[in-house]
Amino acid sequence: MTSPYGLLAELTYACPLHCPYCSNPLTLSDYGDELTTAQWQRVLGEARELGVLQLHVSGGEPLQRRDVVEIVRRACELGMYTNLITSALGLSPRRAEQLKAAGLDHVQISIQAHEPTQSDRIAGTRSFDRKVAAARLVKELGWPLTLNIILHRQNIDRIADIIALTEQLAPDRVELANTQYYGWAWRNRDALLPSRPQIERAEAVVRAERARLAGRMEISYVLPDYYSQYPKPCMEGWAKRQLTVTPNGDALPCPAAHQLPLPRANVREKSLAWIWTDSPLFQRFRGTDWMPEPCRSCARREIDFGGCRCQAFQLTGDAARTDPVCILSPDHEIVAEVVRAANEGARPREEVLTPRPHPSRVR
Ligand code: SF4
Ligand code: FES
Repeated sequence: MTSPYGLLAELTYACPLHCPYCSNPLTLSDYGDELTTAQWQRVLGEARELGVLQLHVSGGEPLQRRDVVEIVRRACELGMYTNLITSALGLSPRRAEQLKAAGLDHVQISIQAHEPTQSDRIAGTRSFDRKVAAARLVKELGWPLTLNIILHRQNIDRIADIIALTEQLAPDRVELANTQYYGWAWRNRDALLPSRPQIERAEAVVRAERARLAGRMEISYVLPDYYSQYPKPCMEGWAKRQLTVTPNGDALPCPAAHQLPLPRANVREKSLAWIWTDSPLFQRFRGTDWMPEPCRSCARREIDFGGCRCQAFQLTGDAARTDPVCILSPDHEIVAEVVRAANEGARPREEVLTPRPHPSRVR
């Protein structure tokens, strides 16, 4: 068994934004009993002992936690590389200075579109100008900056304008990531999934812009896997290198695994070492022994690990089936049908999207 190297710490699901592609659980109110500062600091110590080297501090919006600086400081003391994944709302100059002093290594800011009107509409709140100001602040403070833009049917046609905006902000890296369909994005999938012509036009723009910006700005582009032949190697394999801890202390092999009908494991009750090594949840899909055909005898089984367990569950009701994204899956027709509808359907109006609500704050 390998050691984990990355921990995604979802400090809170509270968030001032209402993005309809949010991957947070639909049952947000179940997570209101958040871990305390001391509990997070203990979890970080246990994670470091297990071998974790990278901490991704996320949410919701992690800056909604008043103790985010203390949590980051503890991770830095333990020698972890720390990355703040934020909407940037709450990243005031004072807070940024405190995080810098605590040792935070990297900042990733999400932007919803290339201009304020559309960006604020997707975010469900006025936020574009504050995001731009925060991105400039991050650069002034000397942090490496990643800008993350989630692409979907309603903004992907403006990808050239999105790249032009990011160029002005001079990040080190731009992530243009097509929506992954979990949580609220799963609920809104049919209004978010782009058509094939949209995907093809976007790819052509990305190719040209990558060539133009080579050496100045790295652009990563993540395809929607519904349009791929083979599934993504989700989480680099179940319980192989990554783990997630949710606001209430549930430890998961991936951020969407809360929906699977598997036994839970919580850091309030068990050590992270036990959870990683012995818990039924983490052992369930580790390695290749669990695989059904066609994965079991497939040459790609150590490349994509049979795809995503959460996606298999969402699409078939059985997390142990081959990911239906795979063209070899007996369930592939489920994905093919969704893609056909995205290509034939009229362009959905923005009003059909369900915005992610604001969970009640408890801390
Ligand atoms: Fe991957 Fe399984 Fe498809 Fe082979 S059959 S490509 S292992 S998902
Ligand atoms: Fe859970 Fe892919 S998101 S295994």
